[in-house]
Amino acid sequence: MARVAVVTGGTRGIGAAISLGLHKAGYKVAANYAGNDEAAAAFKAETGIHVDKWDVGSLAACKDGIARVEAALGPVEIVINNAGITRDGFFHKMTEAQWDEVLQTNLKSLFAMCRVTIEGMRARGFGRIVNLSSVNGQKGQMGQVNYSAAKAGVIGFTKALALENANKGITVNCIAPGYVATDMTKAIAPDVMQKIVAQIPVGRMGEPEEIANTVLYLINDQAGFITGSTIAINGGQFTVG
Ligand code: CAA
Repeated sequence: MARVAVVTGGTRGIGAAISLGLHKAGYKVAANYAGNDEAAAAFKAETGIHVDKWDVGSLAACKDGIARVEAALGPVEIVINNAGITRDGFFHKMTEAQWDEVLQTNLKSLFAMCRVTIEGMRARGFGRIVNLSSVNGQKGQMGQVNYSAAKAGVIGFTKALALENANKGITVNCIAPGYVATDMTKAIAPDVMQKIVAQIPVGRMGEPEEIANTVLYLINDQAGFITGSTIAINGGQFTVG
């Protein structure tokens, strides 16, 4: 039986590449999205992938969303926490809304999505969770105190949840992408973007499919000994370890 995977923020950018990669590999995929109905409808029409709209920053919305996905596709065995937003700006000018929105969508979403799916995974003795952090959670980034804090939090969340569930057949891992060609990075001013690309040793931005390939690797049944890890995919922009 094909395993069921939910990809948050799964109809655009890196999330769309992950949804499509999993779909092509034979998984039953539900692509969650929050706001862009037009993009989600186009994605569904083009790929045939199941889409569902809910706010991943809300526990109640995740409960309802996962219940709908499970009614349509079956028990959720794989969760890819990809949904993320930016509200960039220097910290000395940052508003409470800029802080709250980023922390809610990029970090509280992991609590909400995992909280509603982990008990089923534990009961069935199998689960795969992949959380999307960022190079900017590892190294810090000017204009992104909120985003860097949330994405660093994703790494700590991953390690602790991995420990709690290691004896239940559940792996929890993290991918920390660098700058990848999506709508999010298109929003950066061209002169700033030039400076960023100059800091990437590979000399270019990443492609969404380069992140999706690693997700596929981590969710494989054979990847059961990889847990609590953070895999950097950033063109050499920042190295740890
Ligand atoms: N790398 C290098 N230099 C940067 C930079 C960056 N990421 N961001 C800003 N700068 C530089 C600017 O080029 C500028 O330099 P000069 O003074 O020499 O011209 C200086 O910092 C100040 O920048 P701005 O003139 O743009 O100032 P601002 O107040 O209008 O905006 C800012 C400041 C909000 C930080 C804006 O520059 C910005 O949005 N920068 C990009 C921040 C960024 O990297 N965001 C990542 C988004 S993609 C993402 O988040 C995905 C992921 O996980 C990697």
